[in-house]
Amino acid sequence: MNSLKKIKWGIIGCGNIANKFASDLALIDDAELTAVASRSMEKANEFAQKYNSEKAYNSYDALFLDANVDIVYIATPHISHAELSIKAMEHGKHVLCEKPLALNKKEAVAIFETSKRTNRFFMEALWTRFNPSLIAIKKLIDDGEIGEIKFINVDFSFKTDKSLDSRVLNIDLGGGTILDIGIYPAFLVYLLLGVPKEILAKSIFHDTTKCDIQTSIIFHYDTAQAIIYSGFVSKSDLVARISGTSGQIHLHKPWFVAQGYTLIKNDNEQVFNLSTTGIGFSHEIIECHNCLRANEIESDYWSHQHSLDLISILDNVREQVGLKYPQE
Ligand SMILES: NC(=O)c1ccc[n+]([C@@H]2O[C@H](COP(=O)([O-])OP(=O)(O)OC[C@H]3O[C@@H](n4cnc5c(N)ncnc54)[C@H](OP(=O)(O)O)[C@@H]3O)[C@@H](O)[C@H]2O)c1
Repeated sequence: MNSLKKIKWGIIGCGNIANKFASDLALIDDAELTAVASRSMEKANEFAQKYNSEKAYNSYDALFLDANVDIVYIATPHISHAELSIKAMEHGKHVLCEKPLALNKKEAVAIFETSKRTNRFFMEALWTRFNPSLIAIKKLIDDGEIGEIKFINVDFSFKTDKSLDSRVLNIDLGGGTILDIGIYPAFLVYLLLGVPKEILAKSIFHDTTKCDIQTSIIFHYDTAQAIIYSGFVSKSDLVARISGTSGQIHLHKPWFVAQGYTLIKNDNEQVFNLSTTGIGFSHEIIECHNCLRANEIESDYWSHQHSLDLISILDNVREQVGLKYPQE
């Protein structure tokens, strides 16, 4: 890809997160929003006008056929991620797909096979991986600043007021806490400690929709443990606590989009403020641009293998708690 040319983006699905992503995309000098697609023409037109997109389509397929689009951002419900990502790559588009990249490992493998076969870039949009505070604490930990990690306590929970037919509570759309928000604490522990040797998990389910609404998980390693939680039923302080043999790190709330962290050593606390650019999506957008300009089909920071490991961990959790989707 020409290093001077603007990278032309298409957005698939004009919902909640697509709006936030589009506002951050506008902050990137060498990015251009070229086309948006919704199932509704009215919604697509409204979105295109709001974020200054040249084209608006009332079908996702029409956007895939637009030769001007280099890369598509897929922001639809989980159940459609694999199908749409594969379709986009088959049409020559690079892809940044919202988390979770797929419902399960089987679907993820099909995505990566397509990426290799078509030589198109694919990345799961795990924006937290590119958060400046997370980048900083990963380096501190790798440099041994807090010794050997022994314990991580991290959760993602809030009280939802979503109706029963909303995406997050709809089992037909891949709802439940595990794939929607549990993926974040699982990601943090995986990033810092790797694939767990053993996983123990328990869920509480919604009476009507049968999605999990609370899930507690222990990740067990030979010399470390992590306790993680995801829930739609109550609030938490959303601080991630990482505890090592010679210090602790707290990622400030809400930790998945932290604007800083605290390093605690010998009872001394040092606070570091590291703000995100925009809401925080700009960092993953820049990584996509770097990869496209280097003709890479995956990112070193959040590679295909990383996504595969994470979705396999979530498959394991879902199997233990008995959460299966109708599509499986
Ligand atoms: N990175 C983050 O911080 C973050 C935060 C929230 C969500 N997410 C992820 O982003 C994805 C979308 O979440 P969201 O909160 O933006 O959801 P949302 O507000 O419900 O939007 C999803 C969009 O997908 C499209 N869609 C296609 N098929 C659909 C169907 N059968 N039912 C409902 N919508 C359908 C719709 O767009 P059209 O009507 O325009 O076609 C809809 O607006 C999810 O995978 C979620 O995990 C990420």
